Amino acid sequence: MSETTCSTDCPFAGSATPTWRAPVGQVRAIAPTGGAEEVDETKRNVLKLLAIAGVIGAAGGGLVGGALQYLQPPSVGLKSYPTTQLLDTDGKPLTVARVNSQYSISTSTVLTFTYPLVDEPNFLLNLSGNSQGITKVPYGIGDNEDGSGLIVAYSAICQHLGCVAPLIRYYPPGTCPGKTFTTAQGILDFFIHCSCHGSTYNAADQAHNLTGPAILPLPQVVLKVIDGTIWATGMTPSSPVVKGHTSTLLGDSGVGTTTSLTNLGQGPTACTFPT
Ligand code: FES
Repeated sequence: MSETTCSTDCPFAGSATPTWRAPVGQVRAIAPTGGAEEVDETKRNVLKLLAIAGVIGAAGGGLVGGALQYLQPPSVGLKSYPTTQLLDTDGKPLTVARVNSQYSISTSTVLTFTYPLVDEPNFLLNLSGNSQGITKVPYGIGDNEDGSGLIVAYSAICQHLGCVAPLIRYYPPGTCPGKTFTTAQGILDFFIHCSCHGSTYNAADQAHNLTGPAILPLPQVVLKVIDGTIWATGMTPSSPVVKGHTSTLLGDSGVGTTTSLTNLGQGPTACTFPT
């Protein structure tokens, strides 16, 4: 299978004209076309501050500490996973009964919630009603008492080049006629599939890979029922870092104590698999 060029919708694909955003605390200027080499204002500012710190250091150590503190760009993110309550699209707390009454394995609407950061969307799926007799997915919730269940949550950012839902979405049984995968969970006719280059993930097995080009599973959110309602409490130990982040906990603001489901509609309906 040959690698294809990522579509313009792919946020982490290379671009001939860099449009990336500098991290907080960093100022960078790009020289005009045909001009001098790229100018890194951060380095320039650091050298200036070091020079200033040296002068001030001769006069008093206290001020040096303040200047050096300024040299550290502020990190944006969290130090640990928050315990965050999931709310439905109408703002009401999600419960297992509510999810089972509204969503099932046949739900084609793309439903996402952000966690643990505001730029990290995740699918909420309910695999109840599957014809394979699957009852347990680790770190899901439902009727089991052992930390497993059929209500599960996976990152909605593709681990290949970062296409985001609804370009990557869940395909219910029958959505891709004739397309099945033979797995340890049975012959599956439902899966998560990315329309950008065809990566496919097993929704019934912690989003492990069914087809490339992605080689890592989707990160999985740990769901728990606390006082009768559904909460996100972290990512599973085997989850890779959310695509596009240096750490799942760094890069944007945390979601806080609640996060709501967003309805993204149907997304792409065509099924295009790598050949
Ligand atoms: S971004 Fe390439 S398959 Fe998803």
